[in-house]
Amino acid sequence: MACVKKHIIVANWKMYVEKPDTAKHFASVLRRRMRSFKNADVLVAPPFLLIPTVAAAFKMKGKKNATVRLAAQTVSAKTDGKHTGEISAPMLKNAGVSAVIIGHSERREAGEGEVDIHAQVESANASGLVAILCVGERERDPSGSHFNIIAEQLSSALKNSKMPKFIIAYEPVWAIGKSAEQAMKPAELQETVIFIRKTLADILGRAPALKTPVLYGGSVDATNARELLRDGGASGFLVGRASADIDSFIELLNVCQKP
Ligand code: PGA
Repeated sequence: MACVKKHIIVANWKMYVEKPDTAKHFASVLRRRMRSFKNADVLVAPPFLLIPTVAAAFKMKGKKNATVRLAAQTVSAKTDGKHTGEISAPMLKNAGVSAVIIGHSERREAGEGEVDIHAQVESANASGLVAILCVGERERDPSGSHFNIIAEQLSSALKNSKMPKFIIAYEPVWAIGKSAEQAMKPAELQETVIFIRKTLADILGRAPALKTPVLYGGSVDATNARELLRDGGASGFLVGRASADIDSFIELLNVCQKP
């Protein structure tokens, strides 16, 4: 079992939060309430346009060891030059971001491939950003071929990296954006978390594999979080829909305090 002290909870707002006022309210309330969530390391990943608003509300620039931090939802693998519409890792770093979600299934669906994902991890790490690397199968089958897919995604994103700084977010695609009852069951999650650690040990060695947090994502909310944490062996969650509203997110954080 990994020696992860705090649960890591990442709020992936996707495009759910649209307005600066909503983002500001969320960030201010969360920052005030963080004192009650000592067991949680919380990251909020707004859409790019809302990053400065959230950074200002967190008043986090230059502060070390803040318990609530900023993440981004994706990053360009390019660092400068003629790349219209791209946002680079150094730009995110300058905006106060400390981690970035990479390889989310919705980005893979939009065309990002394994080569892009590997380059994004490298670029994020080179700027001092932690990569929140998403892996997960589209569907499960009784022969267990979904394990091969997860292993290939891990291997292609991390191989040949020197000491990558990353967190794994295991997100079975079939469980994303559904109801809490349709999330993965804790026993299946536990089996997959063990498989991910074993695969990481093969790629990077046992010590980094044990230290790497493995989050779960896919229809997590306050009603299923406790059992997923307690019986699923995850180090925390990557949360979509339930993270877009401050009340449901606080409710979820409350549950994660007492697994
Ligand atoms: P969900 O999204 O919590 O809405 O299922 C999770 C994710 O895609 O990161």
